[in-house]
Amino acid sequence: MEPIAGRFAGHTVIVTGAGAGIGHATALRLLAEGARVVATDIEEERLASLAEERGAGAVVMVAGDISREATVQDVVAACAGRVDALANVAGIMDGFLPVAEIDDGTWDRVLAVNLTAVMRLTRAVLPAMLVAGRGSIVNVASIAALRGSVAGVAYTASKHALLGLTRSTAFIYGPDGIRTNAVAPGGVQTSIVATPRSESAWARIGPVMQASAPPSVDAASLAANILWLMSDEARNVNGAVLSSDGGWSAC
Ligand SMILES: NC(=O)c1ccc[n+]([C@@H]2O[C@H](COP(=O)([O-])OP(=O)(O)OC[C@H]3O[C@@H](n4cnc5c(N)ncnc54)[C@H](O)[C@@H]3O)[C@@H](O)[C@H]2O)c1
Repeated sequence: MEPIAGRFAGHTVIVTGAGAGIGHATALRLLAEGARVVATDIEEERLASLAEERGAGAVVMVAGDISREATVQDVVAACAGRVDALANVAGIMDGFLPVAEIDDGTWDRVLAVNLTAVMRLTRAVLPAMLVAGRGSIVNVASIAALRGSVAGVAYTASKHALLGLTRSTAFIYGPDGIRTNAVAPGGVQTSIVATPRSESAWARIGPVMQASAPPSVDAASLAANILWLMSDEARNVNGAVLSSDGGWSAC
């Protein structure tokens, strides 16, 4: 999975959650392929490594909580009127809490980060994309967007709803040259916090995951999928959900 030199040269691309995991790998590969990356993360110190490994491109770092409108506006301002692509990667898990045990705080936070923030950032970048008559949005969903057996209720609901947001945006803005797609990863080796907080739910979910999940992959494998969906190679792909899970969703 070597970078394709110059594929995103001159492009401005937003990556949320760029400090770690899939977002970090996506930002690094975009930089290697010549993009100007507007990299945002709630953990400011995590973004620093991007400056050191800049590659052929350029990086602008915006620290902040993407579920806050102020951060969304800071990210858009950093784009200086040009947004070729947006990768909505930032996301959090829910401790595998089932509906009988979910607290309002966890529910609200997971929905705010995994869903509402994606809607707000998409809403904020669309005007520039509409003026340009082109743009590509890639939302990172999950195998939990496709089934009810791999996460808690808040994460599962947020990722299912993210597919609805993806398809609605794809349908409405496709004729304007804006493509919106989702990637649905299976297990990926990242720093996401996935500690079960419900014994009863984990007793049900754990064995299903152990029996069915293929080995997890590195974050670069997902970055490759995200960049492909962003690129002109995928110009006929709009409203798609690309499972990248080693076949997990086929079982
Ligand atoms: N790791 C997996 O196995 C897996 C599987 C399926 C889907 N996903 C999805 O992939 C995406 C990336 O997850 P990852 O595994 O790379 O996790 P990660 O924790 O390694 O990286 C996520 C990054 O997002 C940042 N972030 C979290 N909340 C934020 C907020 N409110 N504002 C700004 N930044 C925030 C974190 O600081 C972190 O740097 C998520 O949407 C996740 O749901 C991951």
